[in-house]
Parts: sequence; C-alpha cells; structure tokens
Amino acid sequence: MTESRAAQLKKMAEEVQNLSDSPLYQYRQANNYSMVFGEGNPQAAILFIGEAPGEQEAKTGRPFVGASGRLLSELLDSIGLQREDVYITNVVKDRPPENRDPTAAEIQIYQPFLLRQIELIQPQVIVTLGRFAMEFVLKQFNLAEKGQKISRLHGKLLQAQTGYGPVAVVPLYHPAVALYTREQAETLKQDFQVLKQFVPPISLRRTDQ
Ligand code: URA
Repeated sequence: MTESRAAQLKKMAEEVQNLSDSPLYQYRQANNYSMVFGEGNPQAAILFIGEAPGEQEAKTGRPFVGASGRLLSELLDSIGLQREDVYITNVVKDRPPENRDPTAAEIQIYQPFLLRQIELIQPQVIVTLGRFAMEFVLKQFNLAEKGQKISRLHGKLLQAQTGYGPVAVVPLYHPAVALYTREQAETLKQDFQVLKQFVPPISLRRTDQ
C-alpha cells in the first residue's frame, strides 16, 4: 500500500528540517526558529503559495499566522472556506532575516520541496500570493504569461500543465501589501472571489486519507 499523502508530507518536512545546506539554516538555529513547511488538507483542491515565513511563522512553525494570516483567514471565510479546507505553504520554508526578499539561492534550495508538495497534493487550483510565488509558478510551468507584472495578472484565471494534469493558476496580491493600502485590500477582496467557482459544496469535499 502506498503511504498516505499526509505521511509523505511529514517525511518531506523532516528533510527540510535537516536542510543544513540552506543559506537560512544558521539563522534558523541561531534564533531558535522553526522551519515552516506548510499545513492544511493534503487532499485540498486549492493550494496557496506565499513568499516566506515572517517572524510569527518562524516562531510557531506555521504559515500565515501573523497579520497577513488573519487577513487570509478572513478572505477564505468570504468564500465559505476555512484554513483546514485548503493547503497553505511558501516558496521559501525558512524566515529570511528582517523579512527581506528571498534571494535566488534561497528560492532554488527549497524549489524541489515545493514542486514535490504540488505533485503530491495535486491541487485543481494554485493561488500565488505576491510576486515571488507568482514568478515561481509561471516560470516552473512555463506559462505564456511569464515575465508579466503582477499588476497585470492579479485576479486572472490562468492555465498550466503539470505532471499530473491541468491546473488553474490564480495570481493574487500578497495580503501583507493589502494591510497597508486600502485600495489593494479592496482589489484583493474582489480578486479572491474568482476562487468561489472552485469551492465544492460541503457534501462533496474531499477528506484526508
Ligand atoms: N508571508 C508569507 O509570504 N508567508 C507566510 O507564511 C507569512 C507571511
């Protein structure tokens, strides 16, 4: 019998836990931080990908638990979902110092793990939060839109081909940006409604293996 998705994700998380080659590993250890692998339903139809953990996330080992996370939970609620219904992860699994942008080397070292998470969860929709996650997905799946700006692509429903079949890709602004500008918050709220079409009635939701 093949291992459940949850068991495979757990093993993958242990690999990230021991990833001493990461440029962020020393920083994690020195600050007593946790790596943030991701959490949620391994059978989720919708996968959210953020940028990298912030301080609250590194302290708790959970994605999107700070101010951005509260906004994300509210947005999910607006389309009738809870965090437990989706899977939430990041491009980079360790906190970059002072929340600076992740470097190319940092993105690269965690890349295989994010790709394996996608292949394992096999979501119907990948929602990218912010520029880094959007660029990662557009490049990885070689979408015609790659190279275009988030200001142009946010809220659009794009199509990609993966190893397991077609997947919809929805680029959104990062919730952290929406926390600072009212206009972006409004845009994010409206863009989020694009996801409604992927929300199955409760009776049809997939459950964990
Ligand atoms: N911002 C992100 O991109 N990811 C998190 O997990 C938290 C904040």
